[in-house]
Amino acid sequence: MINCLDLKGQHQAIKEEVFEAFERVYANTAFSGGPFVAEFEESFARFCKTDYAVGVNSGTSALHLAMLALGIGQGDEVILPANTFIATAWGISYTGATPVFVDCLADTWEIDPTEVEKKITDKTKAVVGVHLYGQPCDIDTLKGICEKNSIYFLEDAAQAHGATYNNIPVGSFGEMACFSFYPGKNLGACGEGGGITTNNKSYYEHLQSLRNHGCKERYYHDEVGFNMRMGGLEGASLNIKLKYLSDWNNRRKEIAKRYLSEVKNDKIKMQFQPENTDSVFHLFVVTTEDKDGFCDYLKSNGVNPAFHYPVPCHLQNAYADLGYKKGDFPNSEYLASHCVSMPMYAELTDEQVSTVIDVLNRY
Ligand SMILES: Cc1ncc(COP(=O)(O)O)c(C=O)c1O
Repeated sequence: MINCLDLKGQHQAIKEEVFEAFERVYANTAFSGGPFVAEFEESFARFCKTDYAVGVNSGTSALHLAMLALGIGQGDEVILPANTFIATAWGISYTGATPVFVDCLADTWEIDPTEVEKKITDKTKAVVGVHLYGQPCDIDTLKGICEKNSIYFLEDAAQAHGATYNNIPVGSFGEMACFSFYPGKNLGACGEGGGITTNNKSYYEHLQSLRNHGCKERYYHDEVGFNMRMGGLEGASLNIKLKYLSDWNNRRKEIAKRYLSEVKNDKIKMQFQPENTDSVFHLFVVTTEDKDGFCDYLKSNGVNPAFHYPVPCHLQNAYADLGYKKGDFPNSEYLASHCVSMPMYAELTDEQVSTVIDVLNRY
């Protein structure tokens, strides 16, 4: 069976290097924050071409703290796509603000700027652009709308480490960009992890304090803060993996290029890739009318599908009180009920990719 993701190959290949790094963390007892995390923050900021990066304990925490650093809270509204992983919305809800969902475009599946503009009220404080499946959203248009309305633009780049928009890496387009280093991501820690990049020194300093109990000086707390520090072992593993990220991303692109050009089947639709974006293909999602039949066919032909994501955020029970209903966002709802993720990770062999393509073409 060819799975959508298999982390074993990557971790086997770099095991010695990572274990060596773990030995150094252990010898230094630098388990929480510390030099290994600081080293990763510097390297990741350089990778994203930003001035600063702040490591935290998850992508969800990154989104939460970014909202707080923008001063977002009770009574505020933040606009985001309905077709994202639910954590994009959690960061908003944790602050007491209201997530305002909008539909995606029918072809790129990215947040629809026209729908964003319609939802702006005098309570709107920010728009979160999600770079879905590794492909940058329509940043220029979204930023233009945000500037015109004097609201913040923020990137959820949890799935898009290294993706570029107009040849510039994601991470520097908004006030801040939030990344996840969950193990299954293009850059995943050996453990949980997240990060925020920014070019703004005051956000950077505020984020450092927020993640560490609201203090700049130990035991002097300027505000109610959190324990959301990145662990030393996670930081050390990310330092090692960051060196390989571009190669891994290039391999994903190579695989995606084959899927895009060699799959010739009208029953299977793919995410449209605009010319000014360079996706890092965190996921390779297709849609097809008969999802159940397609999945049965895949499984009986040795391909194990996954689903990202079967229920759009606005129809999740957690947000029932916001009053959304089926039919509100047709493109997101179509995607949710027809999306099927194909195998996508750097260690897939050419032979496995050929098998997947052959299975898709025979459907
Ligand atoms: C788009 C998006 N936003 C946020 C997150 C949250 O990241 P984490 O799982 O590290 O909390 C994820 C990943 O799970 C994600 O895919």
